[in-house]
Amino acid sequence: IIMDGNGRWAKKHHLPRLSGHEAGRKSVKRVVQAAIDHGVRYLTLYAFSVENWQRPREEVQGLMGLLRGVIREELSEMSKEGIRLRTIGRRQDLPEAVREELESAIEKTKGHTKLDLILALSYGSRVEITEAMQGMAREVKAGKLDPDQIREETVAEHLYTHGIPDPDLLIRTSGEMRISNFMLWQISYAEIVVTPVLWPDFGEEDFAKALADYAARDRRFGGI
Ligand code: IPE
Ligand code: IPE
Ligand code: MG
Repeated sequence: IIMDGNGRWAKKHHLPRLSGHEAGRKSVKRVVQAAIDHGVRYLTLYAFSVENWQRPREEVQGLMGLLRGVIREELSEMSKEGIRLRTIGRRQDLPEAVREELESAIEKTKGHTKLDLILALSYGSRVEITEAMQGMAREVKAGKLDPDQIREETVAEHLYTHGIPDPDLLIRTSGEMRISNFMLWQISYAEIVVTPVLWPDFGEEDFAKALADYAARDRRFGGI
C-alpha cells in the first residue's frame, strides 16, 4: 500500500501536517487488523521514501519520532497477533534510535507466521535495483557468479525483498495515479487499485473493497 494523503487530510481539517501523519497511524492499525482478518499473508506499507528526506526537517523528525513510538507501543500487540515485522529500504539512513527500536522488534517477532508486516522505510526502488547490481557485480568480480547464469531469480534474490513474494495487489490512496519509486521490479504483474480516499480516512471497508476489486480482475499474465 502506498499510504498517501496525510498532508491533504491535515489541511482539510486545518491541522498541522504532523497531525495528518498521526491520524495515518490509526489507519495502519485498522488495515493491519483487516489484513489479518482477510487472510492476507504479506502486507507492505510504503511509509517513507528516499525522496521524503527532502521534506522540511521538522516533518522528517516528526515522522521519525512517530515511527519510533509506533514500534515501541505496538510491539506487544504485534507479538500477540502473530505478526512478523520486517523492513525494506536503506535502514542505515534512519536515526539510530529508530534503527535500534526496529531491530529489536524485528528480532523479537521473527518467529511469527500469521502476517509479515513489511515497512518500506527510506525505500526507493531505483536505489534498491542499483544496490542489487552492485552486489551482483561484486560477486562476478570475486568469481562467485557467472554473468551467463544471471536469471530473473538471481536479480530478485539481490533485492531488499528477497524471500518475499511479489505483491498481487497494489493499493494507492488519495487518488494520485503514480508509483513514486515503489517496488518497480516487484509490481510487474500486480493489480493496481487507486482510491481517492485519503490515507487517514482509509478503513476496513475500503480495504475490503480493494480486495473485492482485485478478486473481480481477470489476471492474464500476457496469456489469453
Ligand atoms: C503520505 O502522506 C505519508 C508520507 C509520504 C510520509 P503525505 O505526507 O505525502 O500527504 P500528502 O500527499 O501531502 O497529502
Ligand atoms: C509516496 O508518497 C511515498 C510514501 C507514501 C511514503 P509521496 O507523497 O512522497 O509521493 P509523491 O511525491 O506524491 O509522488
Ligand atoms: Mg503525498
